[in-house]
Amino acid sequence: MDIEGDASEVSSRNACCSPGANAVLITYKRRRTGISATTRMPVLDSHTTETRGTYEEEESPQPVLELSASKSNWLHELSTMWKSSSGLSKRTVAPNRPLGQYFLDLGQRDFSCSTCPSCGLVYARGEETDEKLHASFHRSQLQGIQFRGWQHERVAAKISSKGDRIIYVVPGDPPRHLYKVMEVVRIMEQEMGLVPGWLWQQHCKVYLFISASKKIVGCILCERISNAFPISAISEGGTELGVGKSVRENKTSSSKLTFGNWKFTREVHKKRRRVADQQGMGRVVLCSKTAVPAVCGVRGIWVSGSERRKGIASQLLDAMRKTFLFGLTLETSQCAFSQPTSDGQAFAARYCCNPTFLVYQPQ
Ligand code: COA
Repeated sequence: MDIEGDASEVSSRNACCSPGANAVLITYKRRRTGISATTRMPVLDSHTTETRGTYEEEESPQPVLELSASKSNWLHELSTMWKSSSGLSKRTVAPNRPLGQYFLDLGQRDFSCSTCPSCGLVYARGEETDEKLHASFHRSQLQGIQFRGWQHERVAAKISSKGDRIIYVVPGDPPRHLYKVMEVVRIMEQEMGLVPGWLWQQHCKVYLFISASKKIVGCILCERISNAFPISAISEGGTELGVGKSVRENKTSSSKLTFGNWKFTREVHKKRRRVADQQGMGRVVLCSKTAVPAVCGVRGIWVSGSERRKGIASQLLDAMRKTFLFGLTLETSQCAFSQPTSDGQAFAARYCCNPTFLVYQPQ
């Protein structure tokens, strides 16, 4: 449809299509020279504060703009008039304006922070720095810490020909080596809920299990001690458990309920244990008051999540017992554990073949 016309033209005309067809009334509005169509500009919702880098600060009466129908000029004219009338060109957001991610607080339980069910880290979901920290911690905690190897490694044991080995680091080793240990220790402290800086003391000897895939997947920190105490009981949530028994074994819950003729059988669905359970929070280790001589205290022991129950902690302890003192292999009865977690307790009891294994109070 041609909408060109004269400025003085009256605004309406009648036009008939083919005879017999319905009459169509086409109306034109009076216009200035070169302007033939009337267009209302799109209105940005005043609540939509950001649209591809531009925003409207306040609501203003929307102008009715008249545009030339010449196809070539149409877009250009539209954009020029739109900018000048709305002032948007001046309000274009500066390119470096920081854009923030907003979250709706609808009363969800973990609005401010959430706990990763796998690695146990508590972090603020959606916070960029927290998300990054979580991603890196999660990877290291489950898969181990990247390790390219050192030129001068003290090898305590060669585990396989593929490159699995146990190396150790002593006080006074090059800073690069100590820095790597620090990386591992941070992961251990976070997982075990220890105060940062508590685990690794200067006098400690550190054993690292290096996997063939060039990752540190296990670590023991140990120190020289002179005596320790056999554990006598473990108390959990105020309930005293016998030594050598797991929490499950100590629960005396009936698995069947009977109401008249109705019998209900309790089904146990395996669930991932809560982080608090893994860390042994709320557990108290009771030990004998009589000290016995001991040589090596295991201040901390850790294996990355995906490598557990593959004998790595056992191999670390074997290597440690052979190399802790020069020319002497320690007996398991000469080794003690500090503040064992529930995992640590199960492991130590099994490794030492003694449910009343030794514990000690580190300085
Ligand atoms: N529950 C029950 N028994 C366990 C156990 C657990 N969580 N972890 C180890 N054991 C027992 C098992 O009998 C196991 O033999 P099996 O796998 O043939 O049954 C035996 O100990 C040897 O275990 P191993 O494979 O050498 O131990 P690991 O490499 O899995 O490492 C820990 C054990 C405790 C170091 C590891 O679970 C860990 O890093 N936990 C988190 C950190 C921690 O709690 N450290 C203890 C501080 S004292």
